[in-house]
Order: sequence, then structure tokens, then C-alpha cells
Amino acid sequence: MQRNDILTLTIDKISNLGTGIAKFDGEVIFVSGSCPDDVVKAKINKVSKNYAEAETVEVLSPSGHRIQPFCPMQKVCGSCQMQFIDYEYQLELKRQIVQDTMKKIGGLDIEIPKPVPSPKIRNYRYKVQYPVVQKPSGRIIAGYYKPQSHECVNIKYCPIQPQICDEIIEFIREKAPEYDITGYDEKTYGGMLRHVVIRCSEYSEENLVTLVLNSENVSKNIKDFAKAIKNGFDKVSGVCVNFNPKKTNVIFGEKTQCLLGKDYIEEKIIDKIFKIGADTFFQVNPSSAENIFKAVKDEVSRFENPKVLDAYAGIATFGIVVSDYAKEVVSVEENEASISMAKDVLIQNNIKNVKLYAQDTLKYLKSCGRKFDITILDPPRKGCTREVLDETLTHTKTEIIYVSCNPSTLARDLKYLCEKGCKVKNIQPYDMFCHTYHIENVSIISV
Ligand SMILES: C[S@@+](CC[C@H](N)C(=O)[O-])C[C@H]1O[C@@H](n2cnc3c(N)ncnc32)[C@H](O)[C@@H]1O
Repeated sequence: MQRNDILTLTIDKISNLGTGIAKFDGEVIFVSGSCPDDVVKAKINKVSKNYAEAETVEVLSPSGHRIQPFCPMQKVCGSCQMQFIDYEYQLELKRQIVQDTMKKIGGLDIEIPKPVPSPKIRNYRYKVQYPVVQKPSGRIIAGYYKPQSHECVNIKYCPIQPQICDEIIEFIREKAPEYDITGYDEKTYGGMLRHVVIRCSEYSEENLVTLVLNSENVSKNIKDFAKAIKNGFDKVSGVCVNFNPKKTNVIFGEKTQCLLGKDYIEEKIIDKIFKIGADTFFQVNPSSAENIFKAVKDEVSRFENPKVLDAYAGIATFGIVVSDYAKEVVSVEENEASISMAKDVLIQNNIKNVKLYAQDTLKYLKSCGRKFDITILDPPRKGCTREVLDETLTHTKTEIIYVSCNPSTLARDLKYLCEKGCKVKNIQPYDMFCHTYHIENVSIISV
């Protein structure tokens, strides 16, 4: 098999990155744009020692689960890899991804149930982050990068986010040149506007717009431009700038400044109103996230007056949601802006039993000198270090609730916890990222 070969392949399975898997002469081939039961013609793009990568060039015999994608940009944009598969089957494929990953990486023979579906499968993504690029012609484009590339696709309409985001971004594309604002150039590190980030609230329908600048300060034209954005849309409740002059792929720099309006939006989860800032973490799909928060709250309610540690807390969403049933909650989060938003929520809701620590989880665990009945772990995609898991075990009496957006690192961490004597009671997937291969999981572990 060689690069550029065109092969006829029958797709057997789905990979953890949402590509089809086929075999040819005993070799594994990952085929993008395909799903199980398809027979496709595929072009080989890369041959490695143990596997090859290919892209579908023609579907010879489609799986019965293929549908017409509802977005005309589905093939070029790269964000919704699975949009050509019917939603019920997407859920089944994600279930298989979790099951296979738990077995392969975690050594866990555990029956994974069907993911809890997202209440909305269109217009569900309430956070948008578009790179802004200056073309040599002077035209400004904004959208997503093509798969495995840094080539920006200009996206005028995206049906998985609230429609107002398309309108705000089109306004920015059109009006930026009038204010002498240029888009970023990754090759020369020149240009002013690197990213537009919009946080939207499903509850209040407010939008917070953040312009990420290739600069350390705000010029008059940026201030005037921010005013034009705020005045252009009733539902824009605030405009912020973030300063990121570094040569990096990381979107946000360290400092954010609010230029107009409020520096947060409000979102409702169960019966509590939360504050979400420009670069504080919050789940992108609020109604699907609410299903997870309800499940974790129910789990905590089975205990009598438990003491709960909420680690990797963000704006302390889990901590605040379970505070109704807990004797005491400690929420630990390293991002100070998130802790500051959480503080306001505690005051507004007169919640007295949640303590907040703006600290690294490991540092907190090493110095806390106490035990909790339940520990909620909700780390970033890379999961927890062994040190964090060891310290969690030392400081947890009964149960760990592990919330994860990455099945591979969850499987790795569960394997380690099982080696230390824990028992995985169950794993429930939740679909927060419809039409993509991403899947969130909540696992209950007895220690
Ligand atoms: C997946 S988010 C979860 C946030 C929150 N539990 C929620 O559901 O909204 C992970 C959070 O962990 C924080 N974080 C990352 N590394 C950390 C560390 N070493 N110690 C404490 N917090 C950390 C991030 O800032 C982020 O807010």
C-alpha cells in the first residue's frame, strides 16, 4: 500500500477520533468521511508502520445510517465529522467508542449504556471561538481551521451555534476595515485581531463578545470598534478585549479587560444562576450539561450530609449545584477569574456551605489535611496525574465522581484507580458535542 493509492474498502468499525476503520491486507486503515457498513473508494494519504490514513473519495455502497448533512460546509469545515450519520446511530457509535476505549486502555470489561442524548442537536453550542485571518487581498475571514491544518475556512453560517453568532461575526468581518483593524497573519505574526470569542447564554440570550488582540494595549480604533459592536446588537451585553501578543497557538493571553457593558453573561443550571466570563470555563452545551449536573446532584443526594470536594471546579458549578444536599463543599480551581465569578454567585444565592480555593488541585490536596466523603474530579482533557489520583484516594472516604471529556484519559485513570483497589460502579456517557466524535462521561467509583 502506498500514498495516493485508491482502494475499495469495507468499513468495519469507528475509531475514537470518529473515522471509519477498515482492513486491507491485514493492515488497519483509518478512513475519514466514512462510517461502519459503508463500502467506499478511499485515497491513502499517509502510511505509517502500523496503520494508514485515508479519505473517502466515493461511497460505493452507503451504510443505512447515512443522511444528508444539514450544513453545506460539513465536508470542508472539519468540526462536525459525524454529521452525515443519523443522530441515533451517532449515539450508538459513541457508545462503542467508550466501550472499546475502556477495554483497550482501561482493561475494563464494563457494559456502557447508550449516551444520554443532547436535548438540542442544532444551535446547541453556546461558545464560539473563530480565528480571524487577513488574506493577502486585504479580505478578512473568520471561521474554523480545516481538519489537521491551519487553513481557516470562512464560515458565514454555522447551524450548530445560535444564529446571532453568525450575525456578530459577519458584522466584525465587514466593519473591521472601516476601523483600520486588520486580521492576524500567522506567518508574519502581524495584524491586530487574532480571534473573536462569543459566549452566549441559553437562559438570558445575552452575548459577551471578546476580541483577542495581538497587542498589549487598546487603541482608540479598537475602542470605537467595540462601541460599534455593542451598539449594533441589543443582545450583546458586553465587549471585552484580551491581550495576546505572544507567538503561540493558545487563544487567550493572560489579561482580559472589559471595554463596554458587563464582563460576564448569566446562565441557569437547575435552579441556580451562574456567571460566565470571557475565559472562564463553562460547558458549551448548557442543556446537555444540565443533565450531567442533575445526575451528579442525585448521586450526592444519596449520602447523608456529605462533605464534598469539587476539584477542577471552574466557576464551582458542581459545588454550587450539590450544595443543597451537602454539609460542606470545597471547590478548588486554579483560574482566579473563575473563582471570582463563583464568589459572586455564592453571595447572590446566600450559599454559606461552599468554600472556594483559587489553587492547584494537587497543592490543595497535599496541604488540606482532611477527608471528604465524596470527591468530584472534572479535569481538563489530559486527565489527572498519578499524584493527584493518589492524593484523592488519601483524602476520599467513600466515592469519587469522575467527570471526563476524554474517554482515553478517563480509561487510563480508572485503570490506575482499580489497581489501587477502587471499584468502577458505572460509566454513563452524555452527548454534549453532537455530530462530533467527542463524548463526555460520568463515572462513579467506590474507593
Ligand atoms: C473540564 S473544566 C471543568 C470545570 C467545571 N467543573 C465545570 O463543569 O464547569 C476543568 C477546569 O479545571 C481547571 N484546572 C486545570 N488544571 C487545574 C489544576 N491543576 N488545578 C485546579 N484547577 C485546574 C481549568 O481551569 C478548568 O476550569
